[in-house]
Amino acid sequence: MRGINTFETYKAIIERVASEEHKPDAVIATGDLVQDETRQGYERFKNVIQKLNVPVHCIPGNHDSPRIMAEILNKPPFQFCGSTVYENWCIIMLNTAVRWDDGGGLESSQLEILERTLKAHPEHHTLIGMHHHPIPMGSRWLDGLGLRNSDDLFTIIDQHTQVKAITWGHVHQASDRERKGVRMISTPSTGPQFLPDSDTFIMDTKPPGYRWLNLFPDGSIETELIWLS
Ligand SMILES: [Fe+2]
Repeated sequence: MRGINTFETYKAIIERVASEEHKPDAVIATGDLVQDETRQGYERFKNVIQKLNVPVHCIPGNHDSPRIMAEILNKPPFQFCGSTVYENWCIIMLNTAVRWDDGGGLESSQLEILERTLKAHPEHHTLIGMHHHPIPMGSRWLDGLGLRNSDDLFTIIDQHTQVKAITWGHVHQASDRERKGVRMISTPSTGPQFLPDSDTFIMDTKPPGYRWLNLFPDGSIETELIWLS
């Protein structure tokens, strides 16, 4: 992508994670895992990340093929969308990909899954993962490509106080804000980054990166960004 070999930077990120002193309990992969919608692309993604030997929660982005993803990444350690409980935390991964639209949307089936899961786990602190940003990033071109029905999302979220954070990809930049007590966190790309607060598409000079999320039993979250030098 624009002069960066995203498969090489992806491999470098996974090697970095594998070399960390503290191993992750799981990986949240927030979409746009492959841009050419090929079976081989997902096989490559799979072969590299399964070396971490931890669950990998995957959701599609606007550049993915949800159909091929669901076929290739639906057996452990991979989970395509859906929810998982880790001790007193629940992770809910929502599909916001819309065919022929780089912006996102939550279909009624996804909203139903969200509401049903939140009602089933009222005592579990909850982290929600999705591809598209549900709040504006302050970047005009990107904000035309966010989640188009975030009102539907927040109508549900606002009724369930166990939701502690929403995290997403898509925007190729880090941010960490709050909305009504819920952390709103974007994560940088394992490839190139986009310049924040820009009205038009401009590449940032920041290197590939990823984000640690430490989910504590009391519902608090610590997070740290790691940039590849
Ligand atoms: Fe995207």
